[in-house]
Amino acid sequence: MNHDHFYVTTPIYYVNDKPHIGHAYTTILADVLARGNRMLGKPTYFLTGTDEHGLKVQQAAQKNNTTPLEHCNRTVIRFKELWQKLEITNDYFIRTTEERHERVVQEILTDLHDKGLIYSADYEGWYCIPCERFFTEKDLQEGCCPDCHRKVEPLVEKNYFFKMSQFQKPLIDYIESHPDFIQPAHRRQETLGFLQKPLGDLCISRPKSRLSWGIDLPFDDQYVTYVWFDALVNYISAVGYKTDEEQFRRWWPASYHLIGKDILTTHTVYWPTMLMALGLELPKAIFAHGWWLSQGSKVSKTALAGMTAAAKPASPMDMIESYGVDALRYYLMAAMSLGQDTEFSEEAFILKFNSDLANDLGNLTSRAVKMIEKNFAGKLPPASEPGEEEAALIAACQHAVKAMQNGIENMQLDRCITDVIAAVREGNRYFDLQKPWALVKEGNQEKLGKVLRNTTECLRIVSGLLYPVMPGKMTELRRILGIPQDKLVPEMQNLGKWNILPDGGALNPLETPLFPRIETAKAKFDASVKQAAKPAAATPILPNVISIEDFAKVSLKTA
Ligand code: ME8
Ligand code: MG
Repeated sequence: MNHDHFYVTTPIYYVNDKPHIGHAYTTILADVLARGNRMLGKPTYFLTGTDEHGLKVQQAAQKNNTTPLEHCNRTVIRFKELWQKLEITNDYFIRTTEERHERVVQEILTDLHDKGLIYSADYEGWYCIPCERFFTEKDLQEGCCPDCHRKVEPLVEKNYFFKMSQFQKPLIDYIESHPDFIQPAHRRQETLGFLQKPLGDLCISRPKSRLSWGIDLPFDDQYVTYVWFDALVNYISAVGYKTDEEQFRRWWPASYHLIGKDILTTHTVYWPTMLMALGLELPKAIFAHGWWLSQGSKVSKTALAGMTAAAKPASPMDMIESYGVDALRYYLMAAMSLGQDTEFSEEAFILKFNSDLANDLGNLTSRAVKMIEKNFAGKLPPASEPGEEEAALIAACQHAVKAMQNGIENMQLDRCITDVIAAVREGNRYFDLQKPWALVKEGNQEKLGKVLRNTTECLRIVSGLLYPVMPGKMTELRRILGIPQDKLVPEMQNLGKWNILPDGGALNPLETPLFPRIETAKAKFDASVKQAAKPAAATPILPNVISIEDFAKVSLKTA
């Protein structure tokens, strides 16, 4: 096992519809971890992609009057475009319809079949179409799917099975002896709880009469592979399993499989037993995060389809159009405490943006940069020995550096972002206490320079720490601070140091505020009511203008 390498994956998303905020979340989380690990100097591989087989895709294609592959080719663009917009730095984008992946799945099936770990038998049970999963009678909850609680269909047919039951005991032993394998801890408990019931064998085939859109079973051409058995293999086929041994040895086992809690069982039971059957190492960690909710329910394709346009939470593309990529990345990373469910709301987004970014970070930047422009002709004042007055500022920055390093290594990004913002607040506090505007009046150029220099060092550290979260805006900030082109991408080892900017280095002018304050819908609404009220009082209401009473009922959205 190679601890110096970092290999992170997202789930491969179904291509039956366009991506929503939940998909954006996992992918951004993976991107922040990948960028963070690169900053720590670790060789990093970041994989994402799309899950393109199965009944859902076949049905979506039928609905759109096209072939499954054509449907995939169209939908995959929406994912790729969104990831590009969000500045996702994945090293590879796997599609399960690609030839190499299909070949690897078939070779794996052949191996397991040869080893006697796959057999055929009659299957009697229930099938949940939206989840693409089979259940036995006792799995059902009130006759419905135990996962999504929707209706299930009865089913009897010959199928092929993977002897998953054989690995129940080894899996339990593994989970018990590897406390970090399933994270957070309550998800580990959930899997162990699931494993207390006898584990059945896994049905890994679908007859072509019912589903033709899948990878052919190599030993029976009347069947295709169950979509989950095909999809999970992506984590190894993408890094060269059976096709590029050197690449495979370099990256496997993965450091983190990031998933939502909706796909816990497939990742913590099916996948590890498949790997055990193949004689491969298990991933170092599987991390299941919580859900973004909208008005209390999970944001999902199905829920979104049933909502009116007004009730729908903003899509990632809407959010980017209205507020920019970095603001969205920041909110998603800072607002969700890892592992828990969180309500997604544009109001909460605006509050967080205005408080952390516009007020705290944006403000500190404008204050320092403007005063350096005015009083030092835009050149960085020289470094000096920090004293008593700088102690709290330096301590807060150093704490933020440690917290971020720990956050990246131990999956605590939300908490360490709070620590970074605390360092920014300390920067503002230092500024207020030192009163540089008074130093200007007194003509105390030396002390003024010292204060502005120290504030700039704080901004440099913060811009580096938040770079994985907001690569665009933090690059802009680093440019403003005069950091040379080849140092724009930060290295963690430099962030713990004080006074490393060059004395007299030229800052770049801050033309517009880094994070202009977002006016809340309420503030805009109040302003519009005021404006509308004026002419309405003086002139008769025009036919195409709504009355002030109706206007008051209108809810204004900023998107
Ligand atoms: O399950 N909040 O694909 P999928 C947070 N193809 N994250 C969410 C979310 C929400 N409301 N909704 C979705 C599949 N996600 C399979 C995976 S992997 C071998 C195969 C995220 O399109 C979260 O990561 O349904 C969740 O696990 C994933 O999208 C499910 O995406
Ligand atoms: Mg899903």
